[in-house]
Amino acid sequence: MIGIFDSGLGGLTVAKEIMRALPGQKILYFGDTARTPYGNKSPEVVAQYAIENTKFLLRKKAKAIVVGCNTASAVAGLKLRKEFPKVPIFEVITPAVREALRVTRNGKIGVIGTRTTIGSGAYQKWCKMHTRECPLFVPLVEAGHLNHPTTHEIARHYLEPLKRAGIDTLILGCTHYPLLKPLIKSIMGNTVQLVDSAETVAREIANVKFKMQNVKLPKHEFYVSKKTPKFQEIAQNWLGHKIELREIRTKQDKD
Ligand code: DGL
Repeated sequence: MIGIFDSGLGGLTVAKEIMRALPGQKILYFGDTARTPYGNKSPEVVAQYAIENTKFLLRKKAKAIVVGCNTASAVAGLKLRKEFPKVPIFEVITPAVREALRVTRNGKIGVIGTRTTIGSGAYQKWCKMHTRECPLFVPLVEAGHLNHPTTHEIARHYLEPLKRAGIDTLILGCTHYPLLKPLIKSIMGNTVQLVDSAETVAREIANVKFKMQNVKLPKHEFYVSKKTPKFQEIAQNWLGHKIELREIRTKQDKD
């Protein structure tokens, strides 16, 4: 059983790719909807949340943890490995950087993400990168404005400097950005390759030989720290099937 956590909804893009890559694995998803968003919170606060979320998933018997959230991966990936040395912990940053380095032809790589992700320097520590914070993308995606003229305008504002810098590879360093792929592609053009961190982490996990039981039709479980009808609706829309959403209620459940 693979445990995935995110600040809220966005990590479902990662869950979906993992379900596709490992169809026999049961997924335990936790979205921290009561404390979302993480992308503008301090690294210390997000790291503390990441530890609590991991403990919750381990108590629910997850055998491996996927930090679906880019912000949490950026500020807590290493901390989690130190805190839980016996548990396989996957973060979304390293596989995406590896893929970007593999596909770039001119060595000019860009990355977009939340304020805290970009501010952490987690991507830039691997190689020189052109970076851009895109704080408005998350609320626009959650509002369903994937094709709204405002989203187009904001996307142009965020992406034009990267285009001018001549990047040929762009890492989508946030859970929500895969949903904006068509728009980002239309602005960046066909010569820029988009690296989707949900896809790259799923491929990495699929390559690991787990000693975990495969089941025919795994019944995935979905937990949130605050239940909202919107979460249920968007989640079902993204995943393409009905889900049963459970809220963690007691303090003991959370810590
Ligand atoms: N899940 C976050 C990330 O991937 C985006 C949403 C948030 O800011 O919490 O960085």
